[in-house]
Amino acid sequence: MNLRSDEWYGGTDRNSYIHRAWMRRGLPSSAFDGRPQIAIANTASDLTPCNAHLNEVAESVKHGVYEAGGIPHNLPVVSPGETNVRPTAMLWRNMAAMAMEEMFRANPIDGLVLLGGCDKTIPALLMAAASVDLPAVVVPGGPMLSGTFRGAPLGCGTDVWKLSEEVRAGRLPQDTFLRSESSMIRSRGHCNTMGTASTMAIMAEALGMTIPGIAGTPAADSRLLEGAHAAGRLAVDLVRDGRPVSDVLTAGSFHNAIVALAACGGSTNAVVHLLAVAGRLGLDLTLEDFDRIGGDVPLLVNLQPAGEYLMEDLFRAGGPLAVLNQVRDLLDPQAMTVTGRPLVDVLPEHEVFDRQVIAPRAEPLIDDAGIATLRGNLAPDGAIIKPAAASPELLVHRGRAVVFDSIEDCHARIDDPDLEVDATSVLVLRGCGPKGYPGMPEVANMPLPEKLLEQGVRDMVRICDGRMSGTAYGTVVLHVAPEAAAGGALALVRDGDEILLDVPNRRLELLVDEDELATREVSPGTLAGYARPERGWEKIYVEHVLQADRGVDLDFLVGRTGPVVERESH
Ligand code: FES
Ligand code: MG
Repeated sequence: MNLRSDEWYGGTDRNSYIHRAWMRRGLPSSAFDGRPQIAIANTASDLTPCNAHLNEVAESVKHGVYEAGGIPHNLPVVSPGETNVRPTAMLWRNMAAMAMEEMFRANPIDGLVLLGGCDKTIPALLMAAASVDLPAVVVPGGPMLSGTFRGAPLGCGTDVWKLSEEVRAGRLPQDTFLRSESSMIRSRGHCNTMGTASTMAIMAEALGMTIPGIAGTPAADSRLLEGAHAAGRLAVDLVRDGRPVSDVLTAGSFHNAIVALAACGGSTNAVVHLLAVAGRLGLDLTLEDFDRIGGDVPLLVNLQPAGEYLMEDLFRAGGPLAVLNQVRDLLDPQAMTVTGRPLVDVLPEHEVFDRQVIAPRAEPLIDDAGIATLRGNLAPDGAIIKPAAASPELLVHRGRAVVFDSIEDCHARIDDPDLEVDATSVLVLRGCGPKGYPGMPEVANMPLPEKLLEQGVRDMVRICDGRMSGTAYGTVVLHVAPEAAAGGALALVRDGDEILLDVPNRRLELLVDEDELATREVSPGTLAGYARPERGWEKIYVEHVLQADRGVDLDFLVGRTGPVVERESH
């Protein structure tokens, strides 16, 4: 069998000498005799704390690769960490995806093992792998163990929002809040709520891209390393069998991911990530597919932010595949996993062990748990809301807009006692889309006015062209497309305008006459809130980024070009 890496290592000429000689480093010549060369795309970084343990995981992958007769190579990759990087990790997802795609293609590599964890890292790796279309297996780095504070579990992210709101409402002393800090991150791993990282690990599994059953394994659990070892072996087999990403990822895989997203109560961020990965494969996935496929899927997982438990509990209760086993009839029976078995075939062996954490199908936590896709003059290209994280009484709501031109504007004025706002107002935040910020920050769940919090108000309708943290909650309309900075009507909303949110009818309308709207211009204050980068990645990004309904990928990165590089370097 002819491997891609043979183009580098096969032969007796000067170039093959050069490729082999520098790679020997103690390896015998048999390392280059036609064995699959496996890159371990490793997002480990001390500045991406959620992924810092992946070097150890990579060692286990290496053992598996060697055992199956392949040669592993650790390939460190651009690693955007959610908590640290500015202005948003989302801005760097596409850079990571582009850098990895190019490095996969440029190097003598036959197959990939993708090590991710923190929010953007698995999406970036999947986007890259899809565009290069080599055989690939994902190893999700796993959630951290559950932390506790004063006897109660602490959920990463979710409890930061909750506790900080309690401080603002005057019910929790500041020093108690700060003391919880060292209890929150109990071990290695990514956020242990059903935030974006946990969600994307489950998405990778539902898409068929992991060793079945590995998603949700805590980062500190030895079984993660066992799974990593198996993934290394499998990558070698995939190369020998000639099964690239596009053999695994089909329309049916995305169908299954959308069902899993709803049944697990996953993060809204999965919508942009799945759209971006599908775009790389040339699959026609739309916002409406999320509503159509996931809309009436029952919510079975009782995890924060919508519920009570944490990822360690989900793992103990049977894990994501036990959840999927209960909605097996809703899944695509043909969609494959990297193992060569259809996903539905591996499910029957996955039982539920704790019905408090994974609700029985007959008694779901919510009947219709999916993401609702809204349209209307405020979002002609779509917007989304997660009804399961919203207040039921606000799902049909008409109220007057209170508009903020940036998140800074919001922070500066939201607690002003003179702000004209009441519990029925609709908070509008713009300039937070892919272009406007840039990078679509997680600010859509903007803070509520202090004076309303003091009155006991805990939720209000909020509308934004940005995203919401997967660990946040509220009646929040997100991903409004087109965003204000791309010419969306969101830019024209004024304080006092009436807005209608009607989730059952999937509508989001600015109740202002078309004629009146046609006379409006975008105000200088609104324009001032948009980013105008002059150089570097941000400039490329703002000029080429697609809107949320297209997955926020760059226009020139959509599609796949495969692994072939014709020309030599010397
Ligand atoms: Fe990395 Fe939450 S901050 S997963
Ligand atoms: Mg997040």
